[in-house]
Amino acid sequence: MEIFGSHAHAAGPCAMVILGAAGDLTKRLLFPSIYNLRKTNLLPESFGIVCMDRADFTEDTFRTHMADMMHEFVGADADPAIVSWVDERIFYVQGDFSDPANFTRLAGKLSEVDHAHGTAGNYFFYMAVAPQFFSLVAQQLCTAGLLEESEGRFRRLVIEKPFGHDQVSAKQLNQDLLKAMKETQIYRIDHYLGKETVQNMLAFRFANGIFEPIWNRRYIDHVQITVAETVGVEERGGFYESAGALRDMVPNHILQLVSLSAMEPPISFSAKAIHDEQVKVLDAIHPADPLEAVRGQYGPSEGTDPQMPGYRQEVKVAPDSSTETFVAAKLLIDNWRWAGVPFYLRTGKRLAKRVTEVVVQFRRAPFALFRRTAVQELPPNQLIMHLQPDEGISLGFEAKVPGPGMNLGTVDLKFAYTDYFGKESRTGYETLIYDVMIGDPILFQRADMIEAGWGVINPILEAWKNKKPTVFPNYPAGSWGPNCADDLLGRDGRKWRTQE
Ligand code: BG6
Repeated sequence: MEIFGSHAHAAGPCAMVILGAAGDLTKRLLFPSIYNLRKTNLLPESFGIVCMDRADFTEDTFRTHMADMMHEFVGADADPAIVSWVDERIFYVQGDFSDPANFTRLAGKLSEVDHAHGTAGNYFFYMAVAPQFFSLVAQQLCTAGLLEESEGRFRRLVIEKPFGHDQVSAKQLNQDLLKAMKETQIYRIDHYLGKETVQNMLAFRFANGIFEPIWNRRYIDHVQITVAETVGVEERGGFYESAGALRDMVPNHILQLVSLSAMEPPISFSAKAIHDEQVKVLDAIHPADPLEAVRGQYGPSEGTDPQMPGYRQEVKVAPDSSTETFVAAKLLIDNWRWAGVPFYLRTGKRLAKRVTEVVVQFRRAPFALFRRTAVQELPPNQLIMHLQPDEGISLGFEAKVPGPGMNLGTVDLKFAYTDYFGKESRTGYETLIYDVMIGDPILFQRADMIEAGWGVINPILEAWKNKKPTVFPNYPAGSWGPNCADDLLGRDGRKWRTQE
């Protein structure tokens, strides 16, 4: 295999500041990613990590805790030399976010790190905090002078989802952030964009001449996007009760997949060119029709051993909760390429199998050449982008079954990532953190993308707010979701791709 493109180099000197560092994200994803970045020589030697949280740690106890966590979450083969390299660069500031004095102390700590590790006043702040603190923390950082950039010195802010809980609150949050810094300093994360296979959608479409000419309404019948999870809400009942599957997955992760599948070719591989095209297609999506959206909530599993509890039995969930754990919807895109081609999406928790995939279903062959043979019906071709867990791309087509007479069978052309690139242990956050360090915003979301995403689902949010579901729970844990999701496609004479 010949590889085109350049290899990444270590980022320049900088300090990472994790706000809300005692939470889950830090130990499960951020530190393992920092470990992997060091392992692949992408971190600068002049690097420091300042962790801030109200939790009661000293610098020493936090370092010990993080070393343990790195061993736990990187796994048994964690290299002790890398763990100590990272650990030596950890600093801790204890304090809550409401007191400006704590941010003055943070500024003092950062100067210390600049001296000790040569981080040159370049900082990026990672908000691993609950969403209600986003605006406050941005304001405090600004007041402490920590967001002021100068020639050759950057200050950046990384913000996690949920970015607002509807379009109005997302706009407000954007405004709050823009009072504290410039748009170019804001890196809004959608962790789906850190997944290699999601990024590969761009490469697949635009680095190959053969697919783009048929990537439109003339040849494509419809597109299906499935993000199915086997896990339930785990310990996140408190958050999930006020979010639900629609807010949690659709305006962000799933619409990223829609925009990458449906966008026009950008004029260059610059962040602006790509984001402009993504926004254009998001703006072209017809606001979702609530009559073309269905919801579900899992009940206890049926016939599994051990039995899985229903959503209403989960921790921090109301016993009569009307929060949806499953959503399916049909979207239409109003432009020349896609007019009349439905994009069906579905996502849910506690489904039968973990799978994330984009299925592009082509129109059937136009003429029934085989009608005087044993062939009853020609199935449509499907091109499937398998995003998780077995990353790859496959294309199904009809082939003659050997033997006398004409019988057809569907066969697959398959590309599996691991066959070509091996299996690397990655969290998916490495590229995103590295891109913040080098100032590449391609994989981050601009304010208008977020607002457009919320705009698409707004009619469903409104309709569901006013109409509580009466049939919850309506699918057993471990199944493929409620029947109404099948009916959604059934009404159009289509069905979800069945999983082996
Ligand atoms: C998160 C959601 O953004 O994405 C979770 O809040 C969900 O509820 C997760 O489980 C899914 O991510 P992944 O990478 O496992 O598909």
